[in-house]
Amino acid sequence: MSNFVDFQTEIYQGGLGGVRPELPVTVAGLAARAESELDPVAFAYVAGSASAERTAAANIAAFDRHRILPRMLRAATGPDARDLSVEVLGTRLSAPVMTAPIGALELVRERGEVLVAEVTKELGLGAVLSTVASSTIEEVGAAADQWWFQLYWPGDDELARSFVRRAERAGAKAIVVTVDTPQLGWRPRDLAHAHLPFLHGKGIANYLSDPVFLDRLPAPPEQSPDAMRAAVETWTALFGNHALRVADLAHLREWTDLPIAVKGVLHPDDARMMVDAGADAVVVSNHGGRQVDGAVAALDALPAVVATVGDRADVLFDSGVRTGADMLIALALGARAVMYGRPWVYGLGIAGADGVRHTLRMLLAEFDSVLGLSGCTRPDQLSRSLLVSSR
Ligand SMILES: Cc1cc2nc3c(=O)[nH]c(=O)nc-3n(C[C@H](O)[C@H](O)[C@H](O)COP(=O)(O)O)c2cc1C
Repeated sequence: MSNFVDFQTEIYQGGLGGVRPELPVTVAGLAARAESELDPVAFAYVAGSASAERTAAANIAAFDRHRILPRMLRAATGPDARDLSVEVLGTRLSAPVMTAPIGALELVRERGEVLVAEVTKELGLGAVLSTVASSTIEEVGAAADQWWFQLYWPGDDELARSFVRRAERAGAKAIVVTVDTPQLGWRPRDLAHAHLPFLHGKGIANYLSDPVFLDRLPAPPEQSPDAMRAAVETWTALFGNHALRVADLAHLREWTDLPIAVKGVLHPDDARMMVDAGADAVVVSNHGGRQVDGAVAALDALPAVVATVGDRADVLFDSGVRTGADMLIALALGARAVMYGRPWVYGLGIAGADGVRHTLRMLLAEFDSVLGLSGCTRPDQLSRSLLVSSR
């Protein structure tokens, strides 16, 4: 049973003692606070998307074309009325949310990935660790409970295999292969600052701690500034795998027994190909509009992917989820769970673990509330019959 909505009661009760929430209670408020408090370079990296940011805006606007048609008198409210838990790829979650993989978190907070792992563990949620993280696979494995490893498949299969092996050993429960980023999109906010974290040695902790990567270097990176520069150059050469094909998923299938999710799928034919090649799940996502500006809103791509592979794979969703009502809409359109992106990064930047906890509890409280107020007691009761959709 879940009572995430108790966060609301907690806040009102605090008011009896004159206590108001220290952090904003809307995502827009968190973003505004982050913009005023974070280093402008860090905020640009988190908030920015590709080009004119039309796809990022479309991701949000797409939710507006769906309205919830709540059902009444269904005994879906009150203490212990609801159970939000779901199982995704064998991972049991207290609610259908995982934190999306976000690279280079040290820009906003030291040990960010570890803090997120600790908070998601406390809340019974899952976390997805990025390949381009600032904490290592092993550090996160020691702190997290249910976590998946997101693989940017490098242009070196031995290195890819090493990452997967390390993730397995450290206790990851699935591998998420992101396929929409063989190279970075055109991101004006970062370009204006002429700033890419990885070139400054940020977000490459998993590489610098990898025996295969270190083996590719002329000298240990800690030896001198020149050696570090050479390590970054090697990273640049190896980051993207431009030759990767769907057939390579079969290799991954041989390397690991862990479930495989493919993240960054929009076209239903791609979803079919990935599942045919052995993927257990696909994540419908356009990377928060950071790759192809003008790409379809992720939510608009969701129904066709669900119709195509939903009977043989789990379909997850991200890009544009901001509120509990957004979560409900994505689930009603067939997503099994959502990945939550920028909002908790703002929380992390503003207030560390407390900010992540606050942001996630806000999302969960609203989802719990809106689920009950719509007449449902479990996420699997959500369906399109609960939506009024327009184009
Ligand atoms: C700052 C930032 C860094 C990201 N880094 C990664 C990454 O390392 N790997 C990955 O698969 N996706 C990455 N993403 C994409 C997210 O996992 C997710 O798809 C996206 O944030 C969803 O969009 P939204 O935050 O607008 O909801 C990143 C997104 C942001 C905002």
